[in-house]
Amino acid sequence: MSAAVLARHLHPLLGGMVLGLIVSFWLATLVSELFGTPETVAWVKTAIPWGFLLLVPALAAAGGTGTWLAGRRSARLLDAKQRRLRWAALNGLGVLMPAAFFLAAKARVGAFDGVFYAVQSIELIAGALNIALLTLSARDGLRLSGRLRAGVTVADRR
Ligand code: HEM
Repeated sequence: MSAAVLARHLHPLLGGMVLGLIVSFWLATLVSELFGTPETVAWVKTAIPWGFLLLVPALAAAGGTGTWLAGRRSARLLDAKQRRLRWAALNGLGVLMPAAFFLAAKARVGAFDGVFYAVQSIELIAGALNIALLTLSARDGLRLSGRLRAGVTVADRR
């Protein structure tokens, strides 16, 4: 199998893994906050940073294979995808990861105070934003590869 074929197969799997992990962190947080005991919330908040051990390599590999597939292409859709992903990276590194480490530290000592819930609310909103940005990036990808054709012109993909 050539490197191009491998990258084309791996990229959507890695992208799907990234999106799946972020959705599961978000849903586990929401469900535990709404229905769980403080122990469940503490468990979820402590587990999420461990999940970064999967998320970070998957993100790097999705970025690497994506950049490789993009090559010298300069399609309008690729610009849109890259713009969205830059915002997602900024939000992830600047808000979501620091919030996850902060909330894990607070939850470990049972400090479910006003600051915890303020940061938790910000994290849920920023997380929803990243899920939207990554979902739109996946849609841009499906349009770029030609799997999703509705509303896409040839010029958008070139
Ligand atoms: C985690 C973020 C990402 C997600 C969720 C994602 C998702 C996807 C998906 C679902 C596809 C469709 C693949 C197919 O139909 O087989 C795709 C294609 C594509 N992605 Fe990404 N991607 C991500 C990051 C990137 C990055 C950083 C780049 C590079 C700038 C990139 C460039 C591309 C290109 C060029 C294609 C079209 C490949 C082709 O024509 O076969 N992606 N992406």
